[in-house]
Amino acid sequence: MQNILVAPSLLSADFACAGDAVRGMAEAGADWVHLDVMDGVFVPNITFGHKMVEDLRPETSLPLDVHLMTCNPDRHIETFARAGADAVTIHLEAAVHIHRILTQIRALGKKAGISIVPSTPVSALEEILPIADLVLVMTVNPGFGGQSFIPRCLEKIAALDRIRKEQKLSYLISVDGGINPETAAAVRRAGADVLVAGSAYFNAGDRRQFVDSLRGLS
Ligand code: DX5
Ligand code: ZN
Repeated sequence: MQNILVAPSLLSADFACAGDAVRGMAEAGADWVHLDVMDGVFVPNITFGHKMVEDLRPETSLPLDVHLMTCNPDRHIETFARAGADAVTIHLEAAVHIHRILTQIRALGKKAGISIVPSTPVSALEEILPIADLVLVMTVNPGFGGQSFIPRCLEKIAALDRIRKEQKLSYLISVDGGINPETAAAVRRAGADVLVAGSAYFNAGDRRQFVDSLRGLS
């Protein structure tokens, strides 16, 4: 049985009640809290900065999984690490010196994550997989919640799982965008470890049951 981690995304919550939303995630049995940081440049929307992470830190004991959808991520990693992030994920498409930035995230004592948008192939990750703790496969074009899962991305998850086995690497494979109980089943089969869900989680009538369903338990 795979150990699937479920990471609801705060993006679809009412930000005026962010503390309640993260406490609710723990009550629903979620494993991580996924925090989408958007800068209005790398992606069209703007969400929030490190103060949200700092203010949510005392509200939950769940790990805070920060997804930086920003240009110049190197300028922000230390601030988010100090604010209380447990994992900091940057985009391959957002910086040149990815090796250096992932190394710096690890030196700050945090999980170093690398993400690719749907148009970026897995082959572009080849040189940095050995120093990644987390690979975040975007299965929608980032920037908005509530979009439809792009099925072609399934092959990327499977490829990352294959490479992990062949090269005896230990990164987690996280999948973000359009995750619901149906797409989750295919994503689990492809080899994912972490499932991020925003709109489907917040729209679910019974969030505990929803979290179980992403794990394939109900
Ligand atoms: C999208 C974000 C996602 C978003 C997913 O750019 O990275 O984490 O919250 O939302 P859903 O689950 O609604 O596709
Ligand atoms: Zn995200």
